[in-house]
Amino acid sequence: MKLIVGNQKSYLDENQIESFLEKIDYIYGDKVIICPSSIYFNKFRDKNILLGSQNVSKYDSGATTGELSSEQLKSVGIDFSLVGHSERRQMLGESISDTNTKIKKLLNNLIVPILCVGETEIERDNENTKAVIAKQLDGALTTLDTDLAEKVIIAYEPVWAIGTGKIPTNSEIEDIVNYIKDLLKRNYNSSNLVLYGGSVNTKNIDELNKIDVVDGYLIGGASTKIDEFIEIINRCK
Ligand code: PGA
Repeated sequence: MKLIVGNQKSYLDENQIESFLEKIDYIYGDKVIICPSSIYFNKFRDKNILLGSQNVSKYDSGATTGELSSEQLKSVGIDFSLVGHSERRQMLGESISDTNTKIKKLLNNLIVPILCVGETEIERDNENTKAVIAKQLDGALTTLDTDLAEKVIIAYEPVWAIGTGKIPTNSEIEDIVNYIKDLLKRNYNSSNLVLYGGSVNTKNIDELNKIDVVDGYLIGGASTKIDEFIEIINRCK
């Protein structure tokens, strides 16, 4: 089965989370990770589901108001964390060097980083996609040894495909995912899982599933609607 990661962003209020949780037991499989808003971690904790954080602090625990440290995340049962999501890079100033710091802190605390990389529409139009991705990957993984680099899951998320309903063709996705895998093999001697993310939904999942080299999906909007999310998971078996 493909690995499915749900990124619920800050979409759901408490009532909506309660309705989501009512049906969560219908999610089968040990390859589903949900990244809810962190204020709901406790509600998910006794459910039989892997949990991820949408972000992590680049600082250790301490005097950093509003932050969530990797030590704190680990202590509440979080096993995964997104790093470098394009919304955080573009709106919240997360830099490439921040992604490197965060990845190291997560790995130190035995949390698996899920590093998001991808090009904007302008970068795509200028045929800079591969150069942008290489820079994001090299910056995020710099100075990591093979055994640590290999633990990082990569999510290829073209920025122009996130929340827009637009997605690349299968051959474009395959080309970029192969590029990422080759680059990591060459630079780190590392074989990484690579996911695709950006407007994945019930309408395009069967087509996307034809791309063998993609190891799974990072799903935003569709992971907030429990029926749609379950249907996507079931079609990925
Ligand atoms: P989307 O978001 O599925 O709503 O396009 C994906 C993401 O931001 O990870």
